[in-house]
Amino acid sequence: LDNGLALKPTMGWLHWERFLCNTDCDMDPDNCISERLYMQMADVMVKEGWKEAGYEYVCIDDCWPSHQRDAQGRLQADPKRFPGGIKKLADYVHSKGLKLGIYSDVGDKTCAGYPASRGYYEIDAQTFADWGVDLLKFDGCNMNWTLLGSGYIEMSKALNKTGRSILYSCEWPLYEWPYRQPNYTAIRETCNHWRNFGDVYDSWSSIKSILEWTASHQDIIVSSAGPGGWNDPDMLLIGNFGLSHTQQESQMALWAIMAAPLLMSNDLRDICPRSKELLQNQRIIDINQDPLGKQGFLTAKVDSFEVWERPLSKNRLAIALLNKQELGGPRGFAIRAVPGWKICNPQCNVTQILPQYKEMGVHNPQSKLVVSVNPSGTALLTVTPVTSAFKRLHRLEM
Ligand code: GLA
Repeated sequence: LDNGLALKPTMGWLHWERFLCNTDCDMDPDNCISERLYMQMADVMVKEGWKEAGYEYVCIDDCWPSHQRDAQGRLQADPKRFPGGIKKLADYVHSKGLKLGIYSDVGDKTCAGYPASRGYYEIDAQTFADWGVDLLKFDGCNMNWTLLGSGYIEMSKALNKTGRSILYSCEWPLYEWPYRQPNYTAIRETCNHWRNFGDVYDSWSSIKSILEWTASHQDIIVSSAGPGGWNDPDMLLIGNFGLSHTQQESQMALWAIMAAPLLMSNDLRDICPRSKELLQNQRIIDINQDPLGKQGFLTAKVDSFEVWERPLSKNRLAIALLNKQELGGPRGFAIRAVPGWKICNPQCNVTQILPQYKEMGVHNPQSKLVVSVNPSGTALLTVTPVTSAFKRLHRLEM
C-alpha cells in the first residue's frame, strides 16, 4: 500500500499468541487484556533495549472492545479493563516514543465474537484516527468470502480518508485461499502486510507448517513483497515455551529471510537472556530490514537441508541453511552446494551470523567450506562478492 508506511517490515509486539483472549483481570491482573498490559510492555520496550533495536509498535489484538458501541455508533474499549480509554493509552505509548496498534475485523464480529467493523468502516477508521492509533490489524472472520476484497478495500480507503498515517495489516488472502487464488496485486495495493496462512502456535510443527506453506506458494507470493507491502507469516514466538533455543534461532533466521514483519508475541517483562539477545541481534534485524526489500525463498533441498536465500542490497546474499533432520547431532553442509554460491566468483567474503557470529574469510567457487547445523536449527550466513577489488587489482597488473 502506497501510504508511505512499512517501507521496511514492521517491528513491534502483538498480544495475541501469548495472551489470547484473557479478560479475567480479577483472577489474572498481570496477563489479562487491559491497558496495564500494553503500558507495561511499552515501559519494558524502552527500558530493555527493544525500542533501540527497532521494535516500535505495541499492538492490541482481539478482545479489547466493550460489547456495545456508544450512542454515536462508535466502538469503545471495555471500561473495566481500559479505564483510561484508548486515546489515553495511545498518548502514553506515544510519550515513550512508540506507536500503538489496534485490532478489528472486516465482518460482523471479530474471531472471538466482539463487535467488528462491517457497516461501520468509516466510523471506525475515524474513531481509530481520533484516538491516535498508528496501526490497524484487520481480521477476516464472520464475513462472506465474496465480500472480503471489497471490505478490505473500503477500510483501506476509509483509513486513508482520515488523513492520519495508519499502517494497515490485513488477513485478506488467508480467508480467501479456501475458495480461490487471491489477487496479490490488489492486496498489495490495499494493505501494508497480509497474512496468508493459519495462526502460529507455540510449537516447532507450527513453524514448519508456515515454512512449508510459504515455500510451496513462493511462486505466487514472493514477488508481491517489497517496500510498502509484505507477506506476513505471523508472530515471533521467541521467548515463550514451545521452541528450543535452536528452533527459536530458526524462526528468527527464516523470518529475516522472508522479509517478514517482526511482531513478537511474548512476555517482555519476563524473557530469558538468550531469547532476548536473539530477538535484539542487530545483524539478523539488518537482514530483515534490508533496504532492497526483496523477500527470500527456498532455493534447494539437499540431503534433508533446506537452503533459503535472500538477495540483499550491495549485491550481497543472505543464506539460511535449515537442518530438517530431527535426529542425531549437528550435521555439516558444504556451502558450495548453495545455488546462489555463483556470486562467489571469483571470490566472496562469508560471514556467519547464526548460530554464532564468525568471520569465515574469503572463499571461491571451489571452496571446501562446511557449516555445522543442529537438528531443526539454522545457520544464517551473508555472502559478499569481492569482484570489484579483484578487477581493480587485475587492471593494475595489466
Ligand atoms: C484470528 C487471527 C489471529 C488473532 C485471532 C483473534 O485467528 O488470525 O491472528 O487475531 O483471530 O481472535
